[in-house]
Amino acid sequence: MKASNTPRAYGWVARMFHWTVAVLILAAIAIGLYADNLPEGGEAQLQAIFAAYSVHKTVGMAALILVAARLLWTLAQPKPRPLHPERRLENFAAEVVHWALWIGMIVLPLSGWLLHSAAPGGFARILWPFGQRLPFVPEDLALSERFATFHEVGWWLLAGLIALHVVGALKHAIIDRDGAMSRMAGNPNRAPEPPAARPGILPHVLAAVAALAIWVGPAFIPATSPVAEETPLASAAPQAGPASGWAVEQGVLGIEVTQAGSTVAGQFGQWQADIAYDPASRAGRVTVDVDIASLTLGAVSEAAKGPDFLNAAAHPAATFEAEILPPPAAGQPHVARGRLTVAGQTVDAELPFELTIEGDVAQAKGRMRVDRRDFGIGAGYADESTVGFAVEIGFELSAKQQ
Ligand code: HEM
Ligand code: HEM
Repeated sequence: MKASNTPRAYGWVARMFHWTVAVLILAAIAIGLYADNLPEGGEAQLQAIFAAYSVHKTVGMAALILVAARLLWTLAQPKPRPLHPERRLENFAAEVVHWALWIGMIVLPLSGWLLHSAAPGGFARILWPFGQRLPFVPEDLALSERFATFHEVGWWLLAGLIALHVVGALKHAIIDRDGAMSRMAGNPNRAPEPPAARPGILPHVLAAVAALAIWVGPAFIPATSPVAEETPLASAAPQAGPASGWAVEQGVLGIEVTQAGSTVAGQFGQWQADIAYDPASRAGRVTVDVDIASLTLGAVSEAAKGPDFLNAAAHPAATFEAEILPPPAAGQPHVARGRLTVAGQTVDAELPFELTIEGDVAQAKGRMRVDRRDFGIGAGYADESTVGFAVEIGFELSAKQQ
């Protein structure tokens, strides 16, 4: 069999690319769905999820590299001529699907790599010796969620296109019995000689534009998961506390943990802060109530809220009650010193935070590090191989004086 394409059939290089990429993409879909549906829970389950996603990403990257090589090869090759040039609509439909498959084969794995690169930490590694992240892609949870939304919608689109493509191929094989299949599979000598007529350039251009239009849709679907930039506190529900001096208007309360060596960031959607603060003495007090069930934490939200960790069912709320102390020296942050209760355990905690007040609006931002073992969280995870001991708690808010 010839390496190059002929007007009648695809050569063995194009066939090798077609079938290897087809297998890799179908495998990536199957493994992605498998990983997405694995049960969350204990350490063994978490490790299984990491492993499955690592394989998924590696298979997807292999597909992307092969598609890039295939693209170069295809550009340098003649394309077998249409078998039935008179069936204009059918040829056009087939070409739209081919173009859309080409676009999908590139943008879908690319969106996976982008979401992996932008994820703060990323939780499952691509199994290769090269770098993990694309250069110039910032670690940004909101950005990662956007690519994830595209990836999650895009695979449905790609799967739909593959289904159409396969139905078309089967129609040729079963209904038309015209030997079209032997152009890509089977004996190329059995492929009939297509008529010499060729359509003009316009149908090709229109098909390419239609295929592009198909892929524009998923790119504009807003991210579905709650993320920092898109979850202003006003809607994410921290309500103003009772007459307390300052009412929270906007803000984010998040945590970061280290999982299998990478950082995973998440947020609480529901919390409320009761703040009293006197700008003259630069002192006050604060009480924060957090709804544990409102936590989203990467792919392991359910595990984090489950019995091994925060145990939202038994301990639905966490609280932080503290005195606000003035900055110990000029240029230093304020300190909220008090008691933090999580999962039913109370420990002393100190939260340094920056505060700026303009008129009756205050902006505050701070973070502290706690040790999960002090709260008996993840007691079954005695070392840090799966989940680190340190947990960063961070917040950023603006509040208005009442
Ligand atoms: C699994 C069942 C599949 C069958 C039976 C099949 C069959 C075929 C056939 C017969 C052709 C040649 C069409 C012609 O004569 O012009 C073709 C081309 C093509 N197939 Fe498939 N295919 C399958 C899966 C896939 C998958 C999973 C993808 C990608 C996601 C794919 C992407 C393409 C593309 C892009 C072309 C056009 C080739 C080019 O532009 O050079 N196919 N396929
Ligand atoms: C042809 C290539 C690929 C296909 C067809 C594909 C398909 C899928 C599917 C079906 C899922 C599960 C569905 C879901 O979560 O809603 C998924 C999830 C995921 N994929 Fe891919 N993928 C591909 C390549 C990649 C690559 C190259 C990476 C990273 C380097 C990647 C990273 C991810 C991640 C991180 C998730 C989980 C997303 C989340 O939970 O939000 N994928 N992919």
